[in-house]
Amino acid sequence: MLLGETFAFLKAFVRHPGQVGAVAPSSRFLARAMVAGLELADGEAVIELGPGTGPFTAEIARLTGRPGTYLGIEREGAFVEMLRDRFPHMPIAHGSAEHAHELARQAGLGPVRAVISGLPFAVLEAGVQDRIMAALDQLLGPGGEFRTFQYLHAWPMPQAVRFRRRMAGLFGPHRASRVVLLNLPPAMVLTWRRQAEAVPAAAAPATTH
Ligand SMILES: C[S@@+](CC[C@H](N)C(=O)[O-])C[C@H]1O[C@@H](n2cnc3c(N)ncnc32)[C@H](O)[C@@H]1O
Repeated sequence: MLLGETFAFLKAFVRHPGQVGAVAPSSRFLARAMVAGLELADGEAVIELGPGTGPFTAEIARLTGRPGTYLGIEREGAFVEMLRDRFPHMPIAHGSAEHAHELARQAGLGPVRAVISGLPFAVLEAGVQDRIMAALDQLLGPGGEFRTFQYLHAWPMPQAVRFRRRMAGLFGPHRASRVVLLNLPPAMVLTWRRQAEAVPAAAAPATTH
């Protein structure tokens, strides 16, 4: 991790603690856990929410490459500039994840296989959480995944509990990774996968005996 990135991150945290939600960028160990096992079929896209200085972006860049298969959405202008310098082939929108569906449409993205989030849900206010979840609901079709990280110490925080409950209502139970200790602070990856829709009985093919 470069010193300049760490300093930029700390500076952004001091200015907007409730938006940045961490004092240091994620480690490469957490970044690898965020994309572990993720495979993209031809033309499928990944959206990254809150890339910050880009630790997850660097891992996602190994999976995507073709135009229309990646979009990063970052609210903090200083990070947007850093990201565009560091990853000139990875399009970054300067805006809020609340508008992810619209931004993805404008960017002409292919079908979204996964949304990888660096957003600090444990400190995001309820209205912002709800608008982001509404965008996820529109973006992810059957088999689509949402991955986020959860700091261990923040697990019981009211906004984190609220977020997990509402996500469960939308997407069902989550899967949790092992705790990544080599991250400041330690964290785990939570994944929700949209289930394939059940075929209504009347539409199901008749069985023959
Ligand atoms: C905890 S930092 C994580 C940054 C990076 N993904 C990492 O893991 O090091 C949260 C990031 O989300 C961004 N962010 C917060 N709210 C946002 C929103 N509504 N839309 C887009 N980005 C947002 C912050 O500016 C910051 O870059």
